[in-house]
Amino acid sequence: MTEFRAFRVDRTEDRQYPRSIVMRDTGELPEGDLLIDVAYSSLNYKDALSATGNPGVTRNFPHTPGIDAAGTVAASESGDFRPGDEVVVIGFDLGMNTSGGFGEKIRVPAAWAVPMPAGLDARSSMILGTAGFTAALCVDKLASAGMSPDDGPVLVTGATGGVGSVAVKLLAKLGYEVHAATGKADRHDYLRSLGAATVVDREGLEAGAERPLLRETWGGVVDTVGGPILVNALKSLRYGKSLAACGLVASPDIPASVFPFILRHVNLLGIDSVELPLAEKARIWGELAGPWALDGLEDLAENLTLDTLSDAIDRILAGRMVGRGVVDLQP
Ligand SMILES: NC(=O)c1ccc[n+]([C@@H]2O[C@H](COP(=O)([O-])OP(=O)(O)OC[C@H]3O[C@@H](n4cnc5c(N)ncnc54)[C@H](OP(=O)(O)O)[C@@H]3O)[C@@H](O)[C@H]2O)c1
Repeated sequence: MTEFRAFRVDRTEDRQYPRSIVMRDTGELPEGDLLIDVAYSSLNYKDALSATGNPGVTRNFPHTPGIDAAGTVAASESGDFRPGDEVVVIGFDLGMNTSGGFGEKIRVPAAWAVPMPAGLDARSSMILGTAGFTAALCVDKLASAGMSPDDGPVLVTGATGGVGSVAVKLLAKLGYEVHAATGKADRHDYLRSLGAATVVDREGLEAGAERPLLRETWGGVVDTVGGPILVNALKSLRYGKSLAACGLVASPDIPASVFPFILRHVNLLGIDSVELPLAEKARIWGELAGPWALDGLEDLAENLTLDTLSDAIDRILAGRMVGRGVVDLQP
């Protein structure tokens, strides 16, 4: 058994969730085929939900969150991996009720691990992390539904966030005219630097909620926020176009009518990065390492360590993070 450093969230009797950095032991980790030395993790909105006791994410405490991890196999009971192999693990139960990437070691089933694709390494894969992967999944599903750069501008909501930032950058790389919606008046230049053609004020997207349809505008939408903004974006899709719904930072509700569907032939596409089958995960990682590889990934990164994570968790919950928090486990 080996000791390792980890971020830990406890639950008190009066339902407080104090955070600390502790030494843990590999004997405390769950069963699994792969013991992994984590080099980098990343901060996602879901980690903040876990760290604040959201029961839809984490039920058992004390707990080490972190739905993302990249590093090196230290021990393997699987024929598919050997010690020394570089791997990336995102989603499944990692960081939910399985001890996660905010610790120097994880133990997971081999069926959760993707070999590090050539072209990415532990750090770059975690600058992307679940958020960047999800942005790619949205683009992939929209493209499969027929989205193309000739169909008009693509709206990205929550654009300065993790999913949003990568979506803006990826869509711009692929030749789309990206309209980035944000609530951060001081981050318009950041969004333009990622490739946004236009920056849209978040509040403006909430106007017209009482109308059944709005002017046909978008050739596609990546929505990370849910609620009235998602519904208005559906009402503003061009005929036959699609919206990929992946998030709920504004609301989990969709207060919509059927009019966009039965009068404009539009599609509402669901996005789940967590239980996506491993082969599909590997395919999307391959896109991000190959044809969809993004230049200037470091521009998205805010460097975090276990010691600075707690402050960043508060900021992501308040909608104040910009880009991607990448957690260095071996600083
Ligand atoms: N389905 C999946 O598999 C999957 C995977 C990853 C993430 N997600 C979900 O996607 C969402 C975004 O995740 P993330 O990691 O990118 O989070 P994030 O970094 O916190 O980004 C969310 C962004 O949304 C905007 N925002 C915050 N509060 C808002 C509000 N009340 N109304 C409207 N916009 C608001 C902010 O951007 P601006 O200030 O620029 O507007 C914020 O930066 C979360 O709900 C997360 O759970 C889902």
